[in-house]
Amino acid sequence: MNIEQIREDFPVLQRKIKGKPIVYLDNAATSLKPKQVIAAERNYYENVGANVHRGLHILSEEASREHENAHETVAKFLGAKKEETIFVRNATEGMNLMMYSLMNSSFFKKGDKIVVSKMEHHSNIVPWQFLEKKLGVKLEYVGLLDNYELDMNDFEKKASGAKLVSITGASNTVATLPDIRAIEKLAHKEGALVHIDGAQLVPHHETNFGSLNIDFLSFSGHKMLAPTGTGALVAKKKLLEDLEPFMFGGDMIHSVQWHSSTWNTLPNKYEAGTPNIAGSYGIKAAVEYLKKIGMANIAKQEERLTKIAIEELSRINSIKMFCPKNEKKQGGIVLFESSKLSAHELAMALSESENICIRSGMHCAEPLVSSLNKEGLARASFYFYNTEEEVRFFARALKDVLASFG
Ligand SMILES: Cc1ncc(COP(=O)(O)O)c(C=O)c1O
Repeated sequence: MNIEQIREDFPVLQRKIKGKPIVYLDNAATSLKPKQVIAAERNYYENVGANVHRGLHILSEEASREHENAHETVAKFLGAKKEETIFVRNATEGMNLMMYSLMNSSFFKKGDKIVVSKMEHHSNIVPWQFLEKKLGVKLEYVGLLDNYELDMNDFEKKASGAKLVSITGASNTVATLPDIRAIEKLAHKEGALVHIDGAQLVPHHETNFGSLNIDFLSFSGHKMLAPTGTGALVAKKKLLEDLEPFMFGGDMIHSVQWHSSTWNTLPNKYEAGTPNIAGSYGIKAAVEYLKKIGMANIAKQEERLTKIAIEELSRINSIKMFCPKNEKKQGGIVLFESSKLSAHELAMALSESENICIRSGMHCAEPLVSSLNKEGLARASFYFYNTEEEVRFFARALKDVLASFG
């Protein structure tokens, strides 16, 4: 993997602001996009431009073919079938689609248990809170161990009698990587459906929906090089056949009479309305790019960077990290605070002094993050195009900023 060559594909990495390069360490929020993805989107708008599934003319046929191929490419990348791969705007929409489809199908009744963990993103909390209010289901939170890993003993207790288990595959805050296979086995033994939030998993680790034997997987394209407004909810074919759709309208129907309609085949049944066609071109190019580099290489590079970040930050007295501090047990994210400056002050100082982009605040996981620091925490997050030099530079700049505050 030639990182210097890879970096040339990313226009933002070529930018200089106030004469200095950008050090982009906010990849958990969204990744940068390579020129191959930008060109693919541009190709749609410049050369095709037509809608999908609506015309027999040459341009609509081309757009439809590429849109279908994009489904095929994403499905293969995840070890899923094309019929199981529903394109959505992002992981949040994927989880809402799943929630509404389950609700529309009367899957839940009052008192049913939904199990999530204490490290979930808001998008895997708030939809279920809505069901708590609407249907009287019970939302239960699995706790974390002292090193921020999922407490599997607590999981086993909470999963007992659950109807749905919905857990992140990789935390966007404390960075831990729950054991999906163990979760799947225990949850299925209880007869629960299993959803994995793959927003921080799919971009960084090889993820095979089929062999994980889970029921649902959601993720966002924009965190894995694809354009914003892309992503997928992957679900077992049988479930998608049995459940009711969430959105109704054009493209998701087979035929419409005055007072009834029948649904289209999968995955169209769940994709109402004109889709993000340019986004389909883009996500296909993104997946092809990731495949060319190899997910194992991506994971290895991020492991290297995480190890350095943990070592470097451990040497700074006023810094406390909130993650396992072991690159083998976590993803490429380091969540931290300083006793000298708030997370927002740190993020602003790093940006102003050296164009270093990190995130600060609640990270859309307010119940957990506010319990660790009510003012919020700082987060550096890596992707394969980051270099060891950038991570060391970030640590040095952090030290300098803190030193200037005594
Ligand atoms: C773990 C996790 N789940 C879900 C999401 C939601 O992603 P999106 O905002 O793209 O829908 C995020 C985004 O940060 C995330 O990190």
